Amino acid sequence: MTPEYRLVEGERVRLRPAIWGFTEEELRRRYRWSLDDVLQYWSGSIPSGRSFAAFRDTITERDWPSDGKRVSYGIYMRDDELIGMVSCYNIDRRRRSGELGIYLGERELWGKGFGTDAMSTFLSHLFHDLDFDWLYLHTYESNTRAQRSYLHAGFQMEEKRRRYSPRAGYHQEVRMTITRDGFEEMQYLPEVAAAN
Ligand SMILES: CC(C)(COP(=O)(O)OP(=O)(O)OC[C@H]1O[C@@H](n2cnc3c(N)ncnc32)[C@H](O)[C@@H]1OP(=O)(O)O)[C@@H](O)C(=O)NCCC(=O)NCCS
Repeated sequence: MTPEYRLVEGERVRLRPAIWGFTEEELRRRYRWSLDDVLQYWSGSIPSGRSFAAFRDTITERDWPSDGKRVSYGIYMRDDELIGMVSCYNIDRRRRSGELGIYLGERELWGKGFGTDAMSTFLSHLFHDLDFDWLYLHTYESNTRAQRSYLHAGFQMEEKRRRYSPRAGYHQEVRMTITRDGFEEMQYLPEVAAAN
C-alpha cells in the first residue's frame, strides 16, 4: 500500500510534506533557523556551516531521503506562514516504528501551544494514515518545555540516561515513547492530557 502523504490539518497549525518543496522565502527562513545557536542547542545540533546554496541543494535529501528512513513536514500557521519542522526518522518499516524530532524556528512562538498541536497532529497522521505502531524521541532532561509539550501530546517517560555529545558534554537524556493504543486512549480521555 502506498502511504498517504498529505496536507494534515491540526487545530492551530497544518503540516505539509517537505517532499512537496518550499518557496525561496521559506528556504531562506529555514536557512536562518539553521544558523540560530539557541535553537540548534535545544535541538541537539550545532549551527550549520553550509552556504545557503549548499543548504538549498541538499535539503530535499535531508528532509526526505531516498532510502525511505525519514519523512519531514513543514509546520504552518493558518495563514500559511512556515514556523517550524517536524520529522520522523530512523524509520523501521518492519517494526512500524520511528524516532521523532520537532522544532519551531521562531523563538517568539515557543510556549504558546503550537508545538503541542503540531506534535499531536503529526502523531495522528503517523498512526492513522501511515500505519506506525510506536514512536519515540530523546531530549535533554533540561528541556522541560519540550517534555511538557510531549506529555500533553501523549508521550510517556521511558528512561533517563547519562549521555555525552560534543555539543552538550555529559548530560542527562530523557527517552519518551508513545504507542498507537496509548495515543488513541488519550483522544478519548482529553482530561488525562489536560492533567499531564
Ligand atoms: C519543543 C517545542 C517544539 C515545543 O513547542 P511549544 O509550542 O513551545 O510548546 P507548547 O507551548 O505547546 O508547550 C510547552 C509547555 O512548556 C511550558 N513552558 C513554556 N516555556 C517554558 C520554559 N521556559 N520552561 C519550562 N516550561 C515551559 C508551557 O507552559 C507548556 O506547558 P503547559 O501547557 O503545561 O503550561 C518548542 O518549544 C521548540 O521548538 N523549542 C526549541 C527546539 C526544541 O527544544 N526542540 C525539541 C528537541 S527534543
